[in-house]
Amino acid sequence: MKRHTSFIVIVASIFCTLLFYGCSKQPALSEKGGIWAVYERECQKCHRADGKGGLIGRFIFKIPNFTNTKWQDNASDSRLIISIANGKRKMPGYKGKLKDEEIVDLVKTCVRSFYPPPEQ
Ligand code: HEC
Repeated sequence: MKRHTSFIVIVASIFCTLLFYGCSKQPALSEKGGIWAVYERECQKCHRADGKGGLIGRFIFKIPNFTNTKWQDNASDSRLIISIANGKRKMPGYKGKLKDEEIVDLVKTCVRSFYPPPEQ
């Protein structure tokens, strides 16, 4: 009887693990191609795959939430490009490390994709 119960517990645990893994697994951003490979390599560790920066990052390091409409509306392309190139407080600068076109593309393609304004 006891043996039977532990078998059920083991099977149930395996099933739950697979279910959880299957549901939580997101495709890598680099699979979208182009500049997303750069975002995944350089930016994702802080800004996350969902662009929200994570709860701790937002509170402690003031990482902006790219999905926030208000933030998007107040952030001009030129300001974001300058911030990425020169760095801003806890964020390193990428001038010299990335090409100018890549920095522009990161803003226009990646950062903006996390919250497209409704009229677009
Ligand atoms: C080490 C962590 C870290 C990495 C890596 C990082 N960032 Fe940031 N990023 C930050 C933090 C922290 C801020 C908030 C800066 C502030 O306002 O104090 C920020 C801010 C920003 C902003 C907003 C700037 C503004 O003017 O409001 C943009 C856009 C941005 N990051 C894009 C990127 C991109 C694109 C990359 C990859 C090339 C990147 N970040 C890599 C930590 C990081």
